[in-house]
Amino acid sequence: MKKIIIACLFFVLPVSVMAAGGSANLMHANNDLHDKASLQNGAKLFVNYCLSCHSAKYMRFNRMGRDLGMTDEQVKDNLMFTTDKVVNTMDIAMKPEDAARWFGTLPPDLSVIARSRGTNWLYTYFMSFYEDKSRPFGVNNALFKDVGMPHVFMGLQGKQVLVEAKEGELPTFKLIEAGTMGEEEFANAMRDLVNFLEYLGEPIKTTRQAMGYKVILFLLILFVFAYMLKKEYWKDVH
Ligand code: HEC
Repeated sequence: MKKIIIACLFFVLPVSVMAAGGSANLMHANNDLHDKASLQNGAKLFVNYCLSCHSAKYMRFNRMGRDLGMTDEQVKDNLMFTTDKVVNTMDIAMKPEDAARWFGTLPPDLSVIARSRGTNWLYTYFMSFYEDKSRPFGVNNALFKDVGMPHVFMGLQGKQVLVEAKEGELPTFKLIEAGTMGEEEFANAMRDLVNFLEYLGEPIKTTRQAMGYKVILFLLILFVFAYMLKKEYWKDVH
């Protein structure tokens, strides 16, 4: 019996370990995929600030609207600037050769970026742009050194300078010019954006997880019956 319990734990443990995973020099996104308001705000930030350079070509506007609790009309009025058909995918008009000329590199498609980089990485990335006059756009990033992307949120966050960046520790920044958002407000906006990017990476994640719990519950109940049946079968042998 003991062995069986240990075996069961092996199934459950990786989930909690993965959820807590992360490294010492990343901030915590603490986003919540069940928070629809946060996802909607993230979507708004995404289409306003990112979709000009980055595509999300595996997502259609109407699918996103449905998942986020919006009607097609609401999606059209609030989230669509690059196209007028809700069945379209989230593409961009920019040509690859222009992108290469302007930024020296291609802005990658962001459909699954949350899966390759992780939410904490993304959150830290958006929080880590700082003023660096030696760079083409006047900014650098403490997490992604010499990044080819401008600080699209400078108007909201303001300007910050890097105070200290030690190996294996979180870098510290100092705000030298206020933006239109306060510090906490900006952090929350970035959390919403990361939340949306996580949704984008796996739109059915919440469904999958809910289903997973049900399946495990089913297996546990099945286990009780299977165990009773086994006892019944073997009782004359022992
Ligand atoms: C003006 C164009 C532009 C805009 C607007 C822009 N980006 Fe970028 N972004 C880039 C470029 C170019 C790179 C590639 C940087 C590099 O490789 O040095 C990049 C890189 C990134 C990366 C890192 C990708 C990696 O290598 O893992 C992420 C994440 C990202 N952008 C997210 C965003 C998000 C989210 C927004 C909207 C808030 C946004 N970007 C807005 C141009 C842009």
